[in-house]
Amino acid sequence: MKPVKSPYIRRQLLVCFNSRDPSTGKPSCGMNGAAQLRDYLKKTVKERGLKGEVIVTGTGCLDICPAHGCAVAFQPDGEFFLSDTTEQAGEELILHLTR
Ligand code: FES
Repeated sequence: MKPVKSPYIRRQLLVCFNSRDPSTGKPSCGMNGAAQLRDYLKKTVKERGLKGEVIVTGTGCLDICPAHGCAVAFQPDGEFFLSDTTEQAGEELILHLTR
């Protein structure tokens, strides 16, 4: 099997959406508001004309499960962030993306 390169997508933001049953006692991004952050990132990427270069995707557990907020990975950069799910935190991620 050969790898395939997207002709236009340069970067991908993976927002952890994993939701665990609270009875497990383990935190999970999906229960911490990951959908709010994902929606903000998708909206902002579109508004700033980055759609077509950047894709925002919900993903499973990135194995760095924060007690608050959610985990975000930048690919192909290989950078991981533990982010609040506020619009302000989303803006910081967008600024990092466009640096
Ligand atoms: S639940 Fe999000 S990183 Fe594990």
